[in-house]
Amino acid sequence: MEQVQQFLTDNGGRFVDELFQFLRIQSVSADSAFQPQMRQAAEFVRDQFARIGLETEIIETAGHPIVYASWTKAEGLPTVLIYGHYDVQPPDPLDQWVTPPFEPTIRNGCVYARGATDDKGQLFTHIKSVEAWLETTGRLPINVKFVFEGEEEVGSENLDQFLTDNTERVACDIAVISDTSQYAPDMPAITYGLRGGIFGEFTVSGPNQDLHSGIYGGAIANPANEAARLVSQLIDANGKILIPGFYDDVVALTDEERHQFASLPFDETKFLSNIGMDSAWGDSDFSTTERRWARPSVDINGIISGYTGEGPKSIIPAKATVKWSSRLVPDQDPDKIVEALKTLLQDNLAAGLTLDVTVWGTGAGIVCNTNSPYMNAARSAIESAFGVAPVMIREGGSIPVVATFRDVLSVDTLLLGWGQNTDNLHSPNEHFRLQDFHRGTHASACLWNEIAEFVS
Ligand code: BES
Ligand code: MN
Ligand code: MN
Repeated sequence: MEQVQQFLTDNGGRFVDELFQFLRIQSVSADSAFQPQMRQAAEFVRDQFARIGLETEIIETAGHPIVYASWTKAEGLPTVLIYGHYDVQPPDPLDQWVTPPFEPTIRNGCVYARGATDDKGQLFTHIKSVEAWLETTGRLPINVKFVFEGEEEVGSENLDQFLTDNTERVACDIAVISDTSQYAPDMPAITYGLRGGIFGEFTVSGPNQDLHSGIYGGAIANPANEAARLVSQLIDANGKILIPGFYDDVVALTDEERHQFASLPFDETKFLSNIGMDSAWGDSDFSTTERRWARPSVDINGIISGYTGEGPKSIIPAKATVKWSSRLVPDQDPDKIVEALKTLLQDNLAAGLTLDVTVWGTGAGIVCNTNSPYMNAARSAIESAFGVAPVMIREGGSIPVVATFRDVLSVDTLLLGWGQNTDNLHSPNEHFRLQDFHRGTHASACLWNEIAEFVS
């Protein structure tokens, strides 16, 4: 173990150089213009695996490729499946970046680039820890299998199929994902719960073209008015969601968990001022932390309708589209909620209008077992790398594959995030603290050892 740590320390500078190469590749999964760069990123990851001596291949899907790699020579010992995503969010708005998103730059001890923390910088720590073990000892304390996909930021559409078709190949005892956050700087965390979600849009259509609002106003239903009215029926002014049956299956927070959340230091004023707000909002029966981590939400992500240019234009738009998402918690059933939502919209649609609902993707909320030997191994590994024991948290974001691992492979996931909530993931000026990157490589290297020791 000491040699492994020394290798990580001695080679940290080179790791950062290699991460920079990875970050220069514009692997934006949402935009088909970047398809060549998506392949380039997959090849970069495959070449990393090949160089450190893993068996590896690029697996084609109907969308972006999956990179698979494995080292399974530790007979009779546990197998860990490591998941990550090499795709990144679109970098827009470009003019708000201090330095260009695909020209990684170090400022204040952080590397700034799209994907720095979400998820290239984080997944890279696991490649480097395996490299350190193999280079110094010629072996690993456990078996590893890597599945790195290129479609996480667009809903992981083809990953479930790959996992379902290859259950033998990806069989494992535990999954590990570094794609979440620490609780705060120098307060490492294990995330034992994530919200799930529904991501979709609906379009309300009326006349066959935009119309003069003087000639037709008041005589026919206005698709934009009606879309807004429908939206207002999804959620009330205090944040209670009005979709029938929405809360039926929500697992209530226990007193113990509420106390545990409340015991974490939380500066709400700072949390708000960071984002230019001076007040929180939402269901007052729950704290801000509870609402973010363990209560469901509904949000409009975009509204497209009518005239949006300069000055007035007195029209009735022909149609209106609302992009929306909902965050779900255990045990809400995404499919049931989609059905309830469709019925609510359809039943309240004004005369003469038609409705079209599209759902891009769904995933269930999850809570992981906090008492397994794997969790204890993770606690111990994080403590040795960060010098302090991790706190247990839940988070509000979604990683759809965690529910798939549970349902298809019957395994739990360790969500070990090295990033920070304030790393601007999905926003301009995304960054990752280099110290967190390096400690991530150490924690990962320790984890393989701890798992071998705890699970025997
Ligand atoms: N890494 C995030 C998930 C995340 C964000 C976890 C914040 C914990 C805290 C992931 O890349 C992501 O952005 N997920 C999407 C999923 C969606 C596109 C299906 C999300 O949460 O919106
Ligand atoms: Mn991510
Ligand atoms: Mn993301």
